Amino acid sequence: MMHQMFGYAAIMAVCLVGVLLAGCTQQEQSGGGGGGGGSSKGSVTKAPYGKLSDGTAVDVYTLKNSKGAEARIITYGGTVTYLSMPDKDGKFSDVVLGFDNLEGYTSTNNTAYFGALVGRYGNRIGKAKFTLDGKEYTLPANNNGNTLHGGTKGFDKVVWTAKEGSSTEGPSLELTYLSKDGEQGFPGNLNVKAVYTLTDDNALKLEYTATTDKDTVVNLTQHSYFNLAGKGSILDHEVQIMSDQTTPVDAQLIPTGGYKSVDGTPFDFRKPTKIGARIDDKDTQLQYGPGYDHNWVINKPMGQMGLMARVTEATTGRVLEVSSDQPGLQFYSGNFLDGTLGGNGWKFEKRTGFCMEPQHYPDSPNRPEFPSTELKPGETYKNTIIYKFSVAK
Ligand code: BGC
Repeated sequence: MMHQMFGYAAIMAVCLVGVLLAGCTQQEQSGGGGGGGGSSKGSVTKAPYGKLSDGTAVDVYTLKNSKGAEARIITYGGTVTYLSMPDKDGKFSDVVLGFDNLEGYTSTNNTAYFGALVGRYGNRIGKAKFTLDGKEYTLPANNNGNTLHGGTKGFDKVVWTAKEGSSTEGPSLELTYLSKDGEQGFPGNLNVKAVYTLTDDNALKLEYTATTDKDTVVNLTQHSYFNLAGKGSILDHEVQIMSDQTTPVDAQLIPTGGYKSVDGTPFDFRKPTKIGARIDDKDTQLQYGPGYDHNWVINKPMGQMGLMARVTEATTGRVLEVSSDQPGLQFYSGNFLDGTLGGNGWKFEKRTGFCMEPQHYPDSPNRPEFPSTELKPGETYKNTIIYKFSVAK
């Protein structure tokens, strides 16, 4: 109680100073949303971002931490539109690809899922169907006869309900969405919560949870395209992936079953290696990409939080470490970008952004040998992803 009173007094004092100096609006909060009992750690502000054609309002939330890092998230698709992080000289740049306005995200030309929260099933489900409890479910076939990222209207294309969060680690935002029974063909009313925190040690932490009222399948992930230099090609970025195996795919990027050792292949990232070093090698798996667009089986027990990948960019010194509790990591090297889309003053050419998507393996609902993506009533689906930024001097 004393703690709480002290907390309120501190917030009041900060607001008073804020009002005197620059004005402290109701939307600008100290204490990571106020409810966490933590010390003053950055701010969360809300502003209108635009309207969908049916009139639905979309907001943008700006999270700023105490180190000057900034993340902008829009309620459309739970999309991260901007993420500013320091380089080795303390200079801040946006390290994710994003559009300048809502029209960029809603346009039918946008098939790249920039910064989006993807679901109900991130990645591919072969032949757009799966069987669960003896019943076959048919999904929208939006990718060569298969289902990609939850169908034609996945979680990246819906408007989420937002509320400022209450983390002591930094400013945070809570997004919720009810995906109705039968939406995009999936069974069960699925209640999804996604908490985004911009921690004071420069990490973007994403905590996804979901519950259902009927047996279903779930695989949520984050689809930011990173560029640690803030512009240009990603081919000189060095990548390390903590994995000995991938799940090989066919020409449509659907797993053919089983696992393949990375040993002696261009998929061996156990030692830091430039993305561009082997990307055009004559390797059938790679040519299917074309380039990297595969699932790596992470060397750690499923459900245990751990480091999956580390990416470094020499000119800026920026380092990105990707951690999660998921069994797989989809590393996608932006092979389908072709310069027709752009934002923030530049065109997103082929391989100017890479995705690191911690998740379950593709097509798991049709692959009994893969870790299960089934969720039953009474259980809680969980995926925590941490994108941690630092600099190497
Ligand atoms: C997939 C790619 C796809 C991209 C954009 C990635 O997660 O693996 O194949 O092109 O998303 O849709």
